[in-house]
Amino acid sequence: MIRFKNITKVYQTGNVSFEALRGVNMEIGQGEFVSIMGPSGSGKSTLMNIIGCLDTPSGGSYLLDSENVAGLTFDQLSEIRNKKIGFVFQNFNLLPYATAYENVELPMLYNGKNAKERKLRVRKYLELVGLWDWAEHRPTELSGGQQQRVAIARALVNEPPIILADEPTGNLDSKSGLEIMEIFNRLSREGKTILMVTHDQKIADYSSRTIRIFDGIIVNGAFNGKDH
Ligand SMILES: Nc1ncnc2c1ncn2[C@@H]1O[C@H](COP(=O)(O)OP(=O)(O)OP(=O)(O)O)[C@@H](O)[C@H]1O
Ligand SMILES: [Mg+2]
Repeated sequence: MIRFKNITKVYQTGNVSFEALRGVNMEIGQGEFVSIMGPSGSGKSTLMNIIGCLDTPSGGSYLLDSENVAGLTFDQLSEIRNKKIGFVFQNFNLLPYATAYENVELPMLYNGKNAKERKLRVRKYLELVGLWDWAEHRPTELSGGQQQRVAIARALVNEPPIILADEPTGNLDSKSGLEIMEIFNRLSREGKTILMVTHDQKIADYSSRTIRIFDGIIVNGAFNGKDH
C-alpha cells in the first residue's frame, strides 16, 4: 500500500541545506499497524509528512496504492490526502468551541454528504470510540484521552484506508494511552493501515512492527519480515 524507494528530503534554510531523509526504502502493507521510533531530530515527522502527502520528497519515488505521488502538485496531493489519509495529532487539534459531534462532522462538510448521511457517520464513529454519550460536550469538558478518541473519530469519518498518528499518546497518561492502542489494534484488524510515531516502547509494543530511524536512515524494520 505504501512503498518508498530511495526517498530523500533536503530542507533549505537560507544557504544552509540539511538532509533530513537520506535515502529511505520501506514498504507497508494494507492492515499493518506500524510504529516509528527514533531519537529527536531523526526524521520521523518528516517521514510522516511525506507519507501523509503534506510535503513532497526531494528525490526518490513514493508509491501509494501503486500510484507514484512523489511528483504530484499540491492540489493533486490534497485530493489524495482527503480520500486516503486520516490524521491524529499529539495535541488532538480539536476546535475548542465546537462540540465533539461538530468536530467529528467537520471533515464531511467539504465533500458534499447530506445531513442524514453525516449524522449516521458521526454516530457510528463516536460509538466506535465509545463517546456517543459525550457528543454534545466541548473539548474542555473532556479528558485528554477522550479528546484523542474524538480526534480518532474525526480521522475515521471520511473512511480513509490509512491513519497517521504522530505521537498520539504523547500528552496522555498511560491508561488513556493504552485505550488508544486498543482502538488502533481493532482498526488494524478491520483492515486499516496505521502508522504511529512514538517515543514509548510500551506503546510501540502494541504495533505489529517497529521501524527504527536514525539520522534520516531506517536502521531496522523497513520491510515486513526481513530487513534489506
Ligand atoms: N521545515 C524545516 N526546515 C528546516 N529543517 C527542518 C524542518 N523540519 C525539520 N527540520 C530538520 O530536519 C530534522 C528532522 O526533523 P523531524 O521533525 O522530522 O524530526 P523528528 O524525528 O520528528 O523529531 P522529534 O522526535 O523531536 O519530533 C531535524 O534536524 C530538524 O531540525
Ligand atoms: Mg517529530
